Amino acid sequence: MSAAGVDALEVAGLTVRADGAFGERRIVDDLSFRLGHGEILGLVGESGSGKTVACRALMRLLPPSLAVSANAIRLHGREISGLGDAEFAPLRGREIGMVFQNPASHLDPVMRIGEQIAETVRLTRRLGRREAEAESVELLRQVGIPDPVRRARAFPHEFSGGMRQRAMIAVALASDPNVLIADEPTTALDVTVQAQILRLLLDLRDRRGLAIIFITHDLGVVSQLCDRIAVLYAGRLCEIGAKRDVLATPRHPYAAGLVDCQPAHSAGARRLRTIEGQPPGVGEMPPGCRFHPRCPNAAGDCRSHQPPLVAMGPQRWAACHHPLGSARGAA
Ligand SMILES: Nc1ncnc2c1ncn2[C@@H]1O[C@H](COP(=O)(O)OP(=O)(O)OP(=O)(O)O)[C@@H](O)[C@H]1O
Ligand code: SF4
Ligand SMILES: [Mg+2]
Repeated sequence: MSAAGVDALEVAGLTVRADGAFGERRIVDDLSFRLGHGEILGLVGESGSGKTVACRALMRLLPPSLAVSANAIRLHGREISGLGDAEFAPLRGREIGMVFQNPASHLDPVMRIGEQIAETVRLTRRLGRREAEAESVELLRQVGIPDPVRRARAFPHEFSGGMRQRAMIAVALASDPNVLIADEPTTALDVTVQAQILRLLLDLRDRRGLAIIFITHDLGVVSQLCDRIAVLYAGRLCEIGAKRDVLATPRHPYAAGLVDCQPAHSAGARRLRTIEGQPPGVGEMPPGCRFHPRCPNAAGDCRSHQPPLVAMGPQRWAACHHPLGSARGAA
């Protein structure tokens, strides 16, 4: 939270619907969370749980076939969910930026890296050409690109995967956003480059007060980087709370399953192993709790009633009819 008590981002009831052969499907269902200034929120969940769709919905980057609704989306206290696309456009990049899962498809292959960054700087910060070029070199330096003056003249294909990912971060930072969504920015990278990028994000948070949503499969990364964790399952929020609390004593059985899939006492990076069973597929959304077919604790009410998100302690919520005890794992 900032001194004034206003969050960098507040999302209430975000829902994304797809209409298909199986009828309406809620890809993201009633997602609510807050992100404080300078806070890093880890968004975790299995493949297909809706992490990317939720964040693209916030950026208004979904195809028109997906219908987005929300009770509120506030950027620094300003309600933006009712803005028209033309009113929202100047905020994209400038107030809220995104680093995408695949940097190669979001960098222009025929434009020099430095020009791509400078163009964003010019458009969003209204700087002159010379100043924008100097700023693009400075941004490349800040994201740890060696010899940035020379590298600014390179094309994306001349960069390694790690360098392209850094360049993508530099493009996102070029418009000086206050909120950054980073969608698995390190998944394809080797461990050394991954560690450098995580350090860079922490540094940007410390220096600029950047608030970050960091999407990942990797709880090892969450434990290094994030302040809080939000766990998604089949488009719904299962649990959200301080990293320390959720990792030490998960209250939701799915969150507990994710934690148990991590190598014990290991800080090493590893993709999450799946919990027994599969997440529901298209047209197969179970009634009641979406996790009940896989949940070892499922009871009758779980099959008929969807559990609401309820407070489990200070700044901690879980959506489960039978939450695990806080003493879990203590024995
Ligand atoms: N344009 C679309 N139309 C219909 N369904 C879509 C569309 N885009 C994504 N989906 C579906 O929405 C669900 C959530 O996808 P999403 O990409 O958000 O998952 P994710 O959590 O980011 O997964 P991953 O970890 O693999 O990146 C998936 O079932 C996906 O097939
Ligand atoms: S509501 Fe029931 S099925 Fe769902 S996670 Fe909790 S115990 Fe398991
Ligand atoms: Mg994704």
